[in-house]
Amino acid sequence: MLKTVVCVSGGGTNLQAIIDGIERRDITNTQIVRVISNNRHAYALERARKAGIEAVCVSPGDYGDRAQFNEALIRQIDAASPDLIVLAGFLVVIPPELIRKYRNKIINIHPSLIPSFCGTGYYGLKVHEAALARGVKITGATVHFVDEGTDTGPIIMQKAVAVQPDDTPETLQRRVMEEAEWVILPRTVDLIANGRVKTGDGGAVSIQG
Ligand code: GAR
Repeated sequence: MLKTVVCVSGGGTNLQAIIDGIERRDITNTQIVRVISNNRHAYALERARKAGIEAVCVSPGDYGDRAQFNEALIRQIDAASPDLIVLAGFLVVIPPELIRKYRNKIINIHPSLIPSFCGTGYYGLKVHEAALARGVKITGATVHFVDEGTDTGPIIMQKAVAVQPDDTPETLQRRVMEEAEWVILPRTVDLIANGRVKTGDGGAVSIQG
């Protein structure tokens, strides 16, 4: 059983997609053991509790400085002894110590086709605003392993989504979620849980079978 911790900051629709995937048995061999949010008002915490999952808030405001917050975050993660950590809209800079400790065990969902519209400053609606401003006709979502950079880790899965002429950042965000994020994130968790995701020496990821 893949013991999974999901880290969230907001609405938690990607968390919900994983919860639903496990319930429908589209995702097998997986248990969400804890949901952690940096934002105590995140609706994602409510979604976790409704599903009977332990929900914990680690808020930067409760700690004297960033180092203390990072320590508390790592403590909360370690206490769940996870096999996988899913960043599902987690808007926190991940401490390098956590990345070292859980190398190739942390995945992130990003709402664009990396390497477009990613890196520092590209999160949430800002990604879709930038895609529309650039006039791209295709966008999408990416699931990748987390390394020391911002959105630079090995790509596991991507799905493209067409931009419509009358799209607003909000309509595009919704379509990218529905057509891409809520599909590839649960799918990736299932593939990892069933030992089908392999990382090569050069950082390239292959899916077995
Ligand atoms: C999702 O669109 C996710 O891809 C994005 O935040 C949203 C969270 O929504 N993540 C990033 O932008 C990370 N750079 P959710 O809370 O409803 O899952």
